[in-house]
Amino acid sequence: MTAAGRRSRELRARYEAAGAAAFYADERWRRSRHARRTARRELRMVAALVGRAAAATPGGLGRILDLPCGAGRFLGLLAAAGRELVAADIARPMVEEARAAAAPAAVLLQASAAAPPFAARTFDLVLCFRLLHHFARSEERRQVLAAMARISRRWAVVSFFDAASLQAWRHRIRRRQTVRFAQTAASFVSEASAAGWEVRERRFVARGISEQTIVLLERRP
Ligand SMILES: C[S@@+](CC[C@H](N)C(=O)[O-])C[C@H]1O[C@@H](n2cnc3c(N)ncnc32)[C@H](O)[C@@H]1O
Repeated sequence: MTAAGRRSRELRARYEAAGAAAFYADERWRRSRHARRTARRELRMVAALVGRAAAATPGGLGRILDLPCGAGRFLGLLAAAGRELVAADIARPMVEEARAAAAPAAVLLQASAAAPPFAARTFDLVLCFRLLHHFARSEERRQVLAAMARISRRWAVVSFFDAASLQAWRHRIRRRQTVRFAQTAASFVSEASAAGWEVRERRFVARGISEQTIVLLERRP
């Protein structure tokens, strides 16, 4: 097995481990003031970018996909933003945890972001949040970005970790980058562009300090 394949299996195993999904659904975002603030800001920024896509879409957003959905913290927001909601994650326990957070009409399934089981242009918008920073290699990130471009009719909201931040710099000197990988903004733009996307807007959890960067992408026709 390749190093990338091994890491991908380890990543999945981490989120499928006993207690991981329950932790992510609750304690992960409540354990400190910093975690609570990050969660609030991320929700606010995703809402703003999804709102911008909705406003620029005649008739508003129809079908929305959240992949990976994790424990479902964005599902309420997304259900209100579109007419149909699909949520998926590679880890079965995460999907089960998300089911509890989802409106009854939402469709939930287990799926990989690298090979999502949907027809081309199924969704008006795809949210891919806190996944790309788990991939060390450009090819892995590009594969996910290309898969999103295939199944989206127009929009994606995607997060990545920006290497030009204090947090990334601290992780680098402490050599904590074994499961989280920051990249330069230029490399993200180039990978998104190679996958068929244009960057329309960027938001920062705390510009220059936090690694977390959230981007609205529009698919090239
Ligand atoms: C950090 S969590 C983020 C979840 C959610 N987007 C959020 O921000 O709350 C990362 C998620 O990615 C999922 N995951 C990891 N590799 C994946 C893959 N190749 N395809 C789909 N989901 C994956 C994990 O199971 C986990 O739920």
